[in-house]
Amino acid sequence: MKRSAPTFLLAAALVVAGAAFTGYSPGAAGQPAKVEPVAGVDLRAAYAGPLEVAEGKHVAQASCASCHGLNGIGAVKGAPHIAAQRGAYLYDVLLAYKAGTRGDETMSSVVKFLSDDALLKAAAYYGSLDPAPPAKDAGKGAPAKADPLQAGKSASAACAGCHGDAGVSKMPGTPSLVGLDPKYLLAAMKAYKGGQRKNDVMKSMLAAATDADLGNLALYYALEKPARSPNPSTGDVAAGKSAAAACAGCHGEQGVSATPATPSLAGQDAQYLAAALAGYKDGSRSDETMKGLAAGLDEAAMKNVAAYYASLTPKAPDVRKPLSTADWTQRCDRCHGVNGNSTDPRIPALAGQREDYLVKSLQAYRSGARKSTAMAAMSGALGDADVEGLAAHYAREKARSVIYVILPGK
Ligand code: HEC
Ligand code: HEC
Ligand code: HEC
Ligand code: HEC
Repeated sequence: MKRSAPTFLLAAALVVAGAAFTGYSPGAAGQPAKVEPVAGVDLRAAYAGPLEVAEGKHVAQASCASCHGLNGIGAVKGAPHIAAQRGAYLYDVLLAYKAGTRGDETMSSVVKFLSDDALLKAAAYYGSLDPAPPAKDAGKGAPAKADPLQAGKSASAACAGCHGDAGVSKMPGTPSLVGLDPKYLLAAMKAYKGGQRKNDVMKSMLAAATDADLGNLALYYALEKPARSPNPSTGDVAAGKSAAAACAGCHGEQGVSATPATPSLAGQDAQYLAAALAGYKDGSRSDETMKGLAAGLDEAAMKNVAAYYASLTPKAPDVRKPLSTADWTQRCDRCHGVNGNSTDPRIPALAGQREDYLVKSLQAYRSGARKSTAMAAMSGALGDADVEGLAAHYAREKARSVIYVILPGK
């Protein structure tokens, strides 16, 4: 659908209305509290009239169609769809290629001989076109990644018999797995697997697990609610407390460690704690630091200090639940519009865009190769799997033609 309506007038309220429309709520879930205005963007291309659009078609035919098609649907790998893209955004980007601030040799060499006026019209033309259809097969290349937390939870079923249903040990001698930093848990599991930490049961339990499986398990236990192990202890808590003064520097005043490499001891099963100390002392569990510290403790002292730590209240380590693709898109849509259909002429639509191009752009923001304050903040927290999931999601979304609020002519 070509817009043959008379020149659209800029509604100052448009951007604000768009933000409200996308369900943006300030400060939700600790995310950036405001949608940053894209300053200094020329809006003429978004509100161009039919004459400019027609002239833009000539520019497109001569200089752009070989890669982006005359219909704006990129046929060449790496060349994005630009049909129905927000006009002011297109123009802004073209100027950035021309100035060399958005580094891309291909595009820079194309636009460097074109006047700003020609670029403005090409932007207006492509913005007026119908969008590319959604890519139904997006995401097929990468099999859908399981939610790491769900994966960890399912894998933990095999551990519950000994470590307790939610990681709180009910079997004396077996450690609780809650209240421990995921980095410590991961290192401990890898040490069993690799044989540096000797325990036949744990070695065989983890023999078939991949590093990703271990990471999922560590995350699951780290996010479970910590609770004190209910198992009995036989030591003298008061005597243990004074002995523990020597341990607080590393394991924390209240048995809650501040560093991932040092385990928290608060609420841990007492029999396990005592056995661990005995292991360090006799060398069956190797750690130079702990060997020296355990050397000075006899069996009774070990039981006392173990009873003391077992009596303390464990604390959840500082980890956050990772966001799913759906959690992420809620945040992206605050700026990019519902399902990636931007209602702000200065912010690009993502719906129906080529998946390979979306991946490439997000990686470029992450690495800093493509500069944008808004996107640097957003993309910094994305992992590779998030990027793939988001690219597949938006490529599958149905893109809509540009529709702006049209004010009655003055
Ligand atoms: C030789 C192939 C080629 C030609 C010709 C070409 N482009 Fe591109 N275009 C590309 C590629 C490849 C990219 C992706 C570059 C990047 O990642 O920054 C691109 C990116 C763009 C973008 C950025 C889109 C976005 O969503 O940020 C715009 C806008 C664009 N081209 C418009 C044009 C216009 C207008 C013309 C004609 C004046 C044109 N291109 C000519 C290959 C081409
Ligand atoms: C048959 C009982 C049993 C099963 C099943 C079991 N564990 Fe263990 N696990 C133990 C025992 C006993 C220890 C203490 C070993 C030692 O002294 O080093 C232990 C230790 C650990 C530790 C070290 C904790 C620390 O504080 O250093 C981790 C982590 C762990 N297990 C994870 C798991 C996971 C994950 C599973 C399931 C995939 C699992 N275990 C299954 C018995 C079991
Ligand atoms: C210099 C720092 C430091 C001090 C002081 C220290 N620890 Fe440790 N402790 C560690 C580190 C690091 C580990 C992890 C070693 C490993 O991976 O086996 C550890 C492990 C342990 C474990 C095994 C916990 C588990 O979940 O498997 C126990 C029990 C323990 N310490 C008790 C003590 C006691 C009791 C004292 C005081 C007498 C003490 N530690 C003092 C650094 C310290
Ligand atoms: C605070 C507003 C804001 C949020 C939130 C936001 N973006 Fe953006 N995004 C922008 C702006 C502004 C641009 C244009 C920047 C530029 O010119 O390079 C952009 C550009 C992009 C581009 C490049 C599109 C193209 O055609 O080249 C992609 C891809 C993208 N964003 C994806 C995302 C994803 C995925 C999320 C959520 C994880 C997200 N954005 C969240 C404002 C935002």
